[in-house]
Amino acid sequence: MITFFKKSSKEENVYLRTMPLVADMHSHILPGIDDGAKTIENSLTLISELIDMGYRKLTATPHIMGDFYKNTPAIIHERLIKVQQAINQKGWNVELKAAAEYYLDEWFMEKLRREEPLLTFGNGYLLFETSYINPPVQLQEAIFLMKAQNYKPVLAHPERYIYFHDNFDKIKEIYNMGVLLQININSLCGYYSLPAQNIAEKLVDNRMVHFAGTDCHSVKHIQSLQMAQSKKYYAKLLTLDLLNHTL
Ligand SMILES: [Fe+2]
Repeated sequence: MITFFKKSSKEENVYLRTMPLVADMHSHILPGIDDGAKTIENSLTLISELIDMGYRKLTATPHIMGDFYKNTPAIIHERLIKVQQAINQKGWNVELKAAAEYYLDEWFMEKLRREEPLLTFGNGYLLFETSYINPPVQLQEAIFLMKAQNYKPVLAHPERYIYFHDNFDKIKEIYNMGVLLQININSLCGYYSLPAQNIAEKLVDNRMVHFAGTDCHSVKHIQSLQMAQSKKYYAKLLTLDLLNHTL
């Protein structure tokens, strides 16, 4: 744990405690099964960059999406093993696991209604995302079903959904329903958009962030992550009690 003194905006010394992030829980670093790494060489490049940034525990979360990526636990597991073997051959000091990022569509709803076992990370955390543009009509039902099956729903990058940009209260409503929130570190440097950056900062200010993720798909994201880490909101993010530290 690192401790340091920092001047607040009121020029008072405030004692801040920060913990560096060693565990990431959102990335697309398994090869050839979504829009992330294409080859095993791509995977190894991204993993090596993440190790250089200080990460020692990585959870790959390939997309599972009815229209585009019909990934199954078996497909994901097979790619995980391949990458783990390559990491072992390199002798790298990193723990790699896999879960998934479920897109909230009928394909996902059917899995929930059938009570199909879903991929989780940590202590039953289930990462899901929604359309970027349209508020999902099945959101309430999905949250109910996830919780009823003892999953802990984690909404990926709430700051990126356009339908939240003018409706912070809606995010609060979801937060108050017990949905955990994960922001993308890259949002803090404006990588996606200015509104996404503003919402991410507001979530940090309101201490409404449970997880921080890289959502790393490519080297472009790595370059942006290096920039995001120099932002004052990244330092502020690290003062929160992030659940990354429990992974
Ligand atoms: Fe993602």
